[in-house]
Amino acid sequence: PAVGVIVVAAGSGTRLGAGIPKAFVSLAGSTVLEHALAPVFRLRDAVQVVVVVPADRVGEAEAIGRRAAGKAADHLRVAVGGDTRQSSVLAGLAALWPGVRTVLVHDAARALTPTEQFERVIDAAARTGWGVVPGLPVTDTIKRVDAGDLVEQTVDRAALRAVQTPQAFPRDGLVAAFRVAEDRLAAATDDAALYADAGHPVLTVAGSEAAFKITTPWDAQRAERLLVDRDR
Ligand code: CTP
Ligand code: MG
Repeated sequence: PAVGVIVVAAGSGTRLGAGIPKAFVSLAGSTVLEHALAPVFRLRDAVQVVVVVPADRVGEAEAIGRRAAGKAADHLRVAVGGDTRQSSVLAGLAALWPGVRTVLVHDAARALTPTEQFERVIDAAARTGWGVVPGLPVTDTIKRVDAGDLVEQTVDRAALRAVQTPQAFPRDGLVAAFRVAEDRLAAATDDAALYADAGHPVLTVAGSEAAFKITTPWDAQRAERLLVDRDR
């Protein structure tokens, strides 16, 4: 397959505070990682998948990956991540199969992301050749404040998107963008920022509420409730 999906799952989950890495926390009977992989293996066209995990979780990730992949198990690899999200993405890029031309980077923590969101991103990337990120309109009113918390400005939210993953890129362009940005990788909060900084166009497509990132205990509770309701 010419599409590769890097699922970054090497974070420690500090804000969730479960005492174990977030991707390995169990929600409604399966790990966050297993939930995150399920839609990837339901895609219309097969993809290559690299799961990036902490060094001491490789064996566990392989078992989870085999379960999620089923017959597509030879389309799955496990790589060891780094201290920052961007170093984990780099590890994923290094583990990609040679034939992959388009790469999607996805947060395992967005465990309830629908298959349709992956399809939308893949289709838009194939159609345009650009970077593609899913995003939602911002529903809160956003204020810019100064150092003393005084409101300076109300930002026009019509022009804002809260972006999610998976984010798609031409593989060669993303690898080059990471290389160029080497000294400021840690400052980027998503991959599209690095890709856009390298001068490439990035298109937003519709995201979904279900693709929220499980970050805090409140998020995990919401995810578990949704999973239980879905499977009932
Ligand atoms: N991630 C990663 N490697 C890191 C840090 C983050 O692969 N060194 C991954 C996480 O596993 C997660 C995604 O990037 O799927 C988004 O990161 P975040 O939600 O911040 O997860 P954590 O870093 O694990 O959480 P926290 O920041 O609360 O510690
Ligand atoms: Mg983090």
